[in-house]
Amino acid sequence: QPYRVAVLIGSLRKGSYNRQLALALQKIAPASLQLEIVEIGHLSFYNDDEADAPPAGYAEFRATIKAADAVLFLSPEYNRSIPAVLKNALDVGSRPYGHNAFNGKPGAVITLSPGALGGFGAHHHLRQVLVGMNVATLPTPEMYVGGANTLFTEDHGFTKPDTEKFMQGFLATFSDWIGRQKG
Ligand code: FNR
Repeated sequence: QPYRVAVLIGSLRKGSYNRQLALALQKIAPASLQLEIVEIGHLSFYNDDEADAPPAGYAEFRATIKAADAVLFLSPEYNRSIPAVLKNALDVGSRPYGHNAFNGKPGAVITLSPGALGGFGAHHHLRQVLVGMNVATLPTPEMYVGGANTLFTEDHGFTKPDTEKFMQGFLATFSDWIGRQKG
């Protein structure tokens, strides 16, 4: 049985480079990983007043995360941090108190930006949040990916064999990491 990896994408845009990355990773993933995109755009802003009668979509989202063996975050950087839509999904998953859906999951982060810095700021903000949520985030390789606008072909491939090899290596390391965390 492959590990089921919930893939959360920090962009809602149709042409998102981060979504393109998700689709390209699905095509090259090793047999040990099943990458499943989990949509987050429909989750309304978390409001603790609604805790006893959660908005539509919350229960299913939380159950999907709970059922996953691991989580992979693919995110752009918005103003040196993670987009609000991704933070909201993390907040939704973290509640109700004592039932954090992300608790104890192995995780990994890739930030991807057209800019040269590869979303470094967002990357480390996200890692900070994940510490608080008890996600065991893969330390290295540190995936700050720049030049996002040049990386993908229209049929969800990578334009350069080097990028594809690099991503395959990352996924293999992540798969090993999941195995170690599940022990
Ligand atoms: C950006 N962008 C951006 N890029 C970056 O490298 N650092 C940043 O701080 C920001 N800030 C930022 C804020 C907002 C509100 C927007 C809309 C965009 C540019 C961003 O990297 C670019 O739009 C990416 O293409 C977004 O990722 P997707 O949608 O292609 O996955």
